[in-house]
Amino acid sequence: KISYYNGEFINDDDMKVEYKDRAVYFGDGVYEVIRIYDGEFFTFDEHVDRLINSAREIDIDDLEREDVVSVLQGIKEKNNIENGALYIQVTRGIAVRNHNYPAGVEPVIMAYINEAVRPLTQQEAGVNVVTSLDYRWLKCHIKSLNLLANVLEKERAVKAGAKETILHREGTVTEGSSTNAFIVKDDVLITHPANNLILNGITRQEVLKLAKADNVEVKEEAFSVDDLYEADEAFFTSTTQEITPIVQVDNKLVKDGEVGTLTKRLQNLFDSQLN
Ligand code: PDD
Repeated sequence: KISYYNGEFINDDDMKVEYKDRAVYFGDGVYEVIRIYDGEFFTFDEHVDRLINSAREIDIDDLEREDVVSVLQGIKEKNNIENGALYIQVTRGIAVRNHNYPAGVEPVIMAYINEAVRPLTQQEAGVNVVTSLDYRWLKCHIKSLNLLANVLEKERAVKAGAKETILHREGTVTEGSSTNAFIVKDDVLITHPANNLILNGITRQEVLKLAKADNVEVKEEAFSVDDLYEADEAFFTSTTQEITPIVQVDNKLVKDGEVGTLTKRLQNLFDSQLN
């Protein structure tokens, strides 16, 4: 497998990250995960745009779009992976450890690809989730490498035998630890507005587009943990999880515990754009 680090495509077995890379000390960087389906990137431009925006949000202004594109295309071309997930991260650079930005530091790009399988079984059966307090910082719209809260909260789900932790600020649901959260109530699709409290998922945006095009009423409005408990349907979305139905929240069934009809319709619409 061929990967990329700081200017070079190299064999993945030879990948070594510089210990002074600021990602190591500070998580000082941003990242993206992009799906490749049947040899084609899915929502490529959206991911590249978000990466550049995330970088700008943390004052990495000198990231060239063409560099990002050529790394991503290079990884795709040099690896024979038809169905994969490509990871790319951009860090502030390599320098002696100091909190402030080091003078003259250059951004460092790292990227690799893994095979990925669509999670079809869980998409059919649905999953259970737990809820927990969202104590992250107030810039969750940046796809930052600082994921400690997300890691701790994903582990909470795994320990509880659940698939995801749905986070809330004082009872208002924001998003999952690595996904966006949706409910359906009285045929209205509801999800948190895209502001500083959530990552505006590319899958989230695709689902909203598909729903609107299919004449589903959509509300980008905050909903509560109680609304989630009492929802007709619920699901979460991400690049790797696609549209995953939630059938149980904190050990309580969502409605009758079956995958909802609108959720299934959106899954079918999503599938039909992949081929
Ligand atoms: N996670 N919210 C958070 C906090 C996320 O980390 C992610 C993605 C999403 C969904 O975004 P998208 O639909 O663009 O993948 C929402 C990625 C996949 C990850 O960290 O692996």
